[in-house]
Amino acid sequence: MHRTWWKESIVYQIYPRSFYDSNGDGIGDLRGIIQKLDYLKDLGIDVVWLCPVYKSPNDDNGYDVSDYRDIMDEFGTLADWQDLLDGLHERGIKLIMDLVVNHTSDEHPWFVEARKSKGNPYRDYYIWRPGRDGKEPNNWASHFSGSAWQYDETTGEYYMHLFTKKQPDLNWENPKVRAEVYDLMRWWLDKGIDGFRMDVINMISKVPGFPDVPVRSSDRYQMDNRYFINGPRLLEFLDEMKREVLSKHDILTVGETPSVTPQIAIDFTNEETGALSMVFQFQHMDIDADPSAENSRFSIKPWSLLDLKRTMTGWQKDLENAGWNSIYLMNHDQPRAVSRFGDDREYRTESAKMLATFTLMLQGTPYIYQGEEIGMTNVAFETIEDYRDVETLNWYREQMNHGADAGDLLKVIHVKSRDNARTPLQWDDSPNAGFTGGTPWIKVNPNYTSINVRNALADPDSVFYFYKKLLQLRKQNPVAVYGTYDLILEGHEKIYAFTRTLEGDRWLVILNFTRDETVFTLPENISYARANLLVANFQVDSAEDIRSFSLRPYEARVYHLIGS
Ligand code: NOJ
Repeated sequence: MHRTWWKESIVYQIYPRSFYDSNGDGIGDLRGIIQKLDYLKDLGIDVVWLCPVYKSPNDDNGYDVSDYRDIMDEFGTLADWQDLLDGLHERGIKLIMDLVVNHTSDEHPWFVEARKSKGNPYRDYYIWRPGRDGKEPNNWASHFSGSAWQYDETTGEYYMHLFTKKQPDLNWENPKVRAEVYDLMRWWLDKGIDGFRMDVINMISKVPGFPDVPVRSSDRYQMDNRYFINGPRLLEFLDEMKREVLSKHDILTVGETPSVTPQIAIDFTNEETGALSMVFQFQHMDIDADPSAENSRFSIKPWSLLDLKRTMTGWQKDLENAGWNSIYLMNHDQPRAVSRFGDDREYRTESAKMLATFTLMLQGTPYIYQGEEIGMTNVAFETIEDYRDVETLNWYREQMNHGADAGDLLKVIHVKSRDNARTPLQWDDSPNAGFTGGTPWIKVNPNYTSINVRNALADPDSVFYFYKKLLQLRKQNPVAVYGTYDLILEGHEKIYAFTRTLEGDRWLVILNFTRDETVFTLPENISYARANLLVANFQVDSAEDIRSFSLRPYEARVYHLIGS
């Protein structure tokens, strides 16, 4: 396995709208990020993934781009962006940009042209079809409720949008579209960026003819991605992108790839044959979803540790020496990790540290989402009016139209809404968590008075310093990056434990994923002469025999096993 900087890096994801507002308009901005660069440097991260900052009407907070070569007004200017890049690079931090090219905004000049007439030169940049019996061309649902097709009066045809109707899908079958995308990628790379996160990149190739999907629910439109995920020409398109652009640069590329399997992920990320450094898989994000629900995104199912182990172990082993994993427990589309996989009340600090240990000790490149490093939690707004996310709002509206109970819907939203991750980063205990001097675009989580960066920095036992320690540990020890992963205690329902091994170096990671005390017993076949404690989230007696001992709620320990 080759050693590369992007395998050894830790990535920090910034959602600019909610990071830090420098000018009091209630919206985070580039100057705000610049002011906080020393905070990021202090944490010890290597790469920033910046969510979209391009010009956008913000129907989906920047994932609807109207100009790929300019910055949205709320966030600043290209000059601000250049200062941000320079500020990061001066501190030895790299920058990857979000590449959103499955779709554009309907306000992008290409689409403005395309919808003018059937003969317009840009018409074929998008996917147009006549209606079928006066209705949509097929029965596909959009991810954000309703049909995946929108009727356009000017020409009497429908265009495809897998997301909102203001996010028309680009037609990747058209070589001109692909050339435009490669051009804009080169434009940013020439400015010196260090890579791309590629939004829903495995949706760019659709099955020709756009067949109906099987009818599973009583809904008119069916949520079923089989004809646009990992489509027939996907690998060909990515190979072309590699040839035209990616292979010419030493960059980190991470594809966002819903419904990806390990086998397909290897196709994407194999060192010789793949086009990308790594992909985001979603199987572990689905362990608390009900697959039979009409919209599983908004379903709730208790998750089990055995499911998590099975999923993560599958990915660790399948990609071993064959591809490369990315490791994350949350991002801007997911609930807060500590609320979902830990305990956001009594054991918030302990469980946030345990989850940090988990993320930082797996094989793969770890991603930390803003606020995760201080253990920020889900929010539970009392009324739908306080929510901002288009996915949440559309789903709520649709369900209300079907006669659902508002209280029941809110309960699901509290657990699953993307806005859980999007409330402003909590900097201190001043009004609005010190995020803005104005009115924030979305309310802050009321727990900011205790959970905030200032408190974290003042407390040597905080989640923040625990992350910092783990980051250093990982960076100083190749075994944490490259070591082979092996699960132990496979059937244990409370403890997740595994070893990492690299050329005679062996680490043992022990994590209690529950609020119960539980006994850890080391399997007989693991022998060692001495066990050195590397990191733990509780006080540990260094003389303790680790063959068998009791783990406290959410306890996490990492040992270096020496000798045999
Ligand atoms: C995935 C992004 O992460 C999400 O925020 C966005 O809504 C969709 N792709 C559409 O771009």
